[in-house]
Amino acid sequence: MIVLEGYAVRACTVLTEQADGKSVITVEGLVETILGPILQEEMIAVPGFQCGFCTAGILMDLLSVEENSSEPGDLHEVLERHLCRCGDYHALREVIRRLALRMSPASDSLDN
Ligand code: FES
Repeated sequence: MIVLEGYAVRACTVLTEQADGKSVITVEGLVETILGPILQEEMIAVPGFQCGFCTAGILMDLLSVEENSSEPGDLHEVLERHLCRCGDYHALREVIRRLALRMSPASDSLDN
């Protein structure tokens, strides 16, 4: 999954000519975004890693939702778009909960 013009899309369904001249963020470029370091902190703190396919896709989807949504709660919908074939989303749910708390202007604590 990549973020193309601000929206998460499946990289395998985008032709290079469709992306030509457009903003493309890969998981490698995530750290250079505003959300990247925050996501990295929460992924390490929980820890919230799944396999190399799931983790990268979910991170890019979280970036897209965060950039396009005004509601931190929308982050919880991200997992509905990713089908894990080998585990559960328990740790990632915790990452998203913590991320939503950090993105919420009313909250300044992760201890809840
Ligand atoms: S963690 Fe990737 S398929 Fe389950």
